[in-house]
Amino acid sequence: MEVVIVPDAATAGELIADTIAALLRHTPDALLGVATGSTPLPVYQALAAKVRASALDVFRARICQLDEYVGLPAGHPESYRSVVLREVVAPLGIPESSFLGPDGNAPDIPAACAAYDSALAEAGGVDLQLLGIGTDGHIGFNEPCSSLASRTRIKTLTPQTRQDNARFFDTPDDVPHHVITQGIGTILDARHLVLLATGESKAEAAALAIEGPLSSLVPASALQLHPHATVILDDPAASKLKLSDYFRTTYASKPPWQGL
Ligand code: F6R
Repeated sequence: MEVVIVPDAATAGELIADTIAALLRHTPDALLGVATGSTPLPVYQALAAKVRASALDVFRARICQLDEYVGLPAGHPESYRSVVLREVVAPLGIPESSFLGPDGNAPDIPAACAAYDSALAEAGGVDLQLLGIGTDGHIGFNEPCSSLASRTRIKTLTPQTRQDNARFFDTPDDVPHHVITQGIGTILDARHLVLLATGESKAEAAALAIEGPLSSLVPASALQLHPHATVILDDPAASKLKLSDYFRTTYASKPPWQGL
């Protein structure tokens, strides 16, 4: 696992956007797995700025969702399909037909989950999966004690995650209890995992995921199993790392041609 500490969220956004741009130059039809929530927004803003400046051609890029609420009405502004369309697909000008996601209103949820895993595999697998981290250590919506081998399936959100996400809804009670999420095993199938954590509220979960033992209690610790996992933190999110000096020195002396 590579750990990169940057001063702020905007710098992290630029760094990840540069990494995605390099991937798309090499593989124009790369399948990009995107996360929702607040953390990845600087990445999407930096990518959109590149597109506006004609520094990046994303027309052949493909996008896939990490997770989705179950039971929100189709077109609800906080369904993750709506969020990805609004924050990623539209600003980048990617055709909607290049966007894959699970159906949170499917009459048969287990079948929809299995179909989504199959669709990802048939699409050739995810080239780069962008991840955030929950304050309880979740990735996607794999809450603590999710199987490290899990595939896409329905999960129940913890009270803490529902409280963390209440800011997106009119009232806390409006936050759905259930979600479809790529499993940890599904996430680990991606060729490159890039986890971004910003802000002091993520410091403890990030430290446990990076420096703690591999444990389903901290689902993000599963990145320790992946041969190409990059964790990017701003200074506040890195504030509880024991090895922060080592991570800073290592990244500062990295040859620029290596990228992430
Ligand atoms: C969202 C997702 C979640 C979030 C996490 C952090 O698609 O999968 O794991 O990344 O809950 O959310 P924010 O970034 O809003 O703090």
